[in-house]
Amino acid sequence: MEKVCIQGDVQLKGTVSISGAKNACLPMLAASLLTDEHCILRNVPQLRDVNFFIQLLQTLGVHVENIAPNTWKLQATHITHEASYDLVRQMRASVCIMGPLVGRLHKVSLPLPGGCVIGNRPIDLHLYGLQKLGCNVSMSQGIIHITADKLCGHSIFLGGPFGSTVTGTANLVMAAVLTPGTTVIESAACEPEVTDLCRLLQQMGAEIEGIGSPRLTIHGQNQLHGFDYTVIGDRIEAGTFLIAGLITNGHIRLEHFDPRHLGALLHVLEEVQADIKVDYESHTIEAFPCLERLKPFNITTLPYPGFPTDLQAQMCVLGLCIPGLSLITERIYPQRFMHIAELQRLGAKIILEGSTAILQGAHPLSGADVMASDLRASAALYLAGLIAQGETFVHRVYHLDRGYENFDQKLRNLGAQIQRSQENS
Ligand code: EPZ
Repeated sequence: MEKVCIQGDVQLKGTVSISGAKNACLPMLAASLLTDEHCILRNVPQLRDVNFFIQLLQTLGVHVENIAPNTWKLQATHITHEASYDLVRQMRASVCIMGPLVGRLHKVSLPLPGGCVIGNRPIDLHLYGLQKLGCNVSMSQGIIHITADKLCGHSIFLGGPFGSTVTGTANLVMAAVLTPGTTVIESAACEPEVTDLCRLLQQMGAEIEGIGSPRLTIHGQNQLHGFDYTVIGDRIEAGTFLIAGLITNGHIRLEHFDPRHLGALLHVLEEVQADIKVDYESHTIEAFPCLERLKPFNITTLPYPGFPTDLQAQMCVLGLCIPGLSLITERIYPQRFMHIAELQRLGAKIILEGSTAILQGAHPLSGADVMASDLRASAALYLAGLIAQGETFVHRVYHLDRGYENFDQKLRNLGAQIQRSQENS
């Protein structure tokens, strides 16, 4: 296992190229199961989660080839419907194989995904939607068995107590594109990653109306073609670097992602008077030194286009840099605060009231040993290390490698001093 040492008190400067979106490419890789024709996916980030998903597809019988950097060729000629426990339990996104396997084979068996540190991760809405399409769902010894004698289009309401479901929407769209008749998904997730998946499915020959809206209408097809598609830039990586530039009072430029996907963050940063230039034509954002003038904020995480929960931990670090009290309320995963205790080890003044973090800003942080717990908490600890006095050691850094491509090197290219080493060294 590795740890990383981050030197504090740095001002980031330079340009960073944003990688392909993890949460777009995973369901897109699963979409290759919908056809026996060959599929090509480009701008795929090199991540632990991607490598893992590729392995999962290979166990299902998909032929996979890395034909160029960040480019994968897949062909699902002969596939099985059973996914192994030791693969599925390690990554929740494995659930994205359910929809395409139901659409293609009318059956799938997979272990119920475990929970994780950010909170309960049920799939009841996924299973409800598949049942509406005609599936029978049973569970024995922790394995979910989904079968369908006959699939038939239906209307499905996908709203849950925390809003819609991103991978649930992906799953049901991927089942519906091969389900005879018309399926209407009400309260579908509108995240850009879902929109991008729908565009890929259209390239495969799917007929989908209302893309980008909470009401998707899918007219099922008998079969779909392959695809050659390029993944969108990762808005969460972009938001993470934008916050890193602001907290270090730096001057950075982000490129290769669509700023329209960061509307909620850009709105908050405008409210706190950040000095940012957005170019929607060239798909770039530039942040200038402005830390001294920033104002406290009060935000709540919500489904897209609301403020993304995946930037909540990173925003906690920004709140710690702004004099006064900033508030962040987490409405998607109310327990998603594993980073708070670690930030407090760096001297952060934070009070957690239910699912609201109250951040006392402009209190100096000092470097310490901290423990990564999940993907976005790890990123927040890196950001805190950049501004803490002295050295910060982030342990269990494999959590970060799940979702950020070349994160250390991208930060070094902006002037950060970061070194990795083995835990026991
Ligand atoms: C996706 O997870 C993302 N992962 C998550 O990103 C992201 O935080 C989340 O969407 C919310 O935006 C991928 O796309 C691979 P949900 P997903 O189903 O689809 C509840 C990251 O850091 N819910 O939209 O699993 C659920 O408990 C990861 O990149 C049900 O109640 O999230 C949660 O409170 C972390 N029943 C809320 O809905 C269900 O059947 C949103 O969950 C499904 C979900």
